[in-house]
Amino acid sequence: MTEFVGRLRLGVNIDHVATVRNARGGAYPDPIRAAKLAEEAGADGITAHLREDRRHITDADIDGLMDALSVPLNFEMAATAEMQKIALRHKPHAVCIVPEKREERTTEGGLEVAREENSLAHFIAPLREAGCRVSIFIAAEQAQIEAAHRIGAQVIELHTGAYCDALAEDRLEDAAEELTRLRAMSRFAHDLGLEVHAGHGLTYQSVQPIAAFPEVMELNIGHFIIGEAVFRGLKPAIHEMRRLMDEARS
Ligand code: PXP
Repeated sequence: MTEFVGRLRLGVNIDHVATVRNARGGAYPDPIRAAKLAEEAGADGITAHLREDRRHITDADIDGLMDALSVPLNFEMAATAEMQKIALRHKPHAVCIVPEKREERTTEGGLEVAREENSLAHFIAPLREAGCRVSIFIAAEQAQIEAAHRIGAQVIELHTGAYCDALAEDRLEDAAEELTRLRAMSRFAHDLGLEVHAGHGLTYQSVQPIAAFPEVMELNIGHFIIGEAVFRGLKPAIHEMRRLMDEARS
């Protein structure tokens, strides 16, 4: 059994505060205000994805987050020259490289690191040199983890979407199979020396088995928390997620 390798951090993704704002094109709800409230509620970091089409977070939001936050910003971005330039200008604490397709509703799969190894190695080198912690969002597959390690990423974030979908749809055998895969790959990545994060689709129902993996050091959670905030308020929604994570970890 792997020892716990540190306190499990919670990164709160505030993209969907911007989704609601952009539905009317005005100034509210303000994602920066949400990020500050998340900080006050105990978030260890704030995650924001500046998509190529700017459908939620905007360039001005990233400027505002960099100015306002006391906790680290995890800047999610596609591996494009435009995003690299923006990241190098801001030098956020962390960058998470994600695949991006214009037509998708959300980040559907992990990055194909194994197929793009050379170009990704060149892409992340200046980000690392600038002092950003580079994370790669991937499926729980050995070949992707090995490739992420070879290109010099410090962190991998495992895509938990398939597990969460299976659980939400009551496909319990599939959920158990996905969980087994995530469990094995967390250990594998940790043993290679990578820091392991996880996220996508996590809810109060699905978070605890993932939070219990001793090698996982950070969860990034957005859509469910922002949705739950409509009913409970943002701080109580975050407090409940934190409580469930701590309970699973103890
Ligand atoms: N981690 C990564 C890399 C993501 O792309 C996303 C979605 O933007 C999340 C975590 C958060 O997923 P969710 O909003 O479903 O909690």
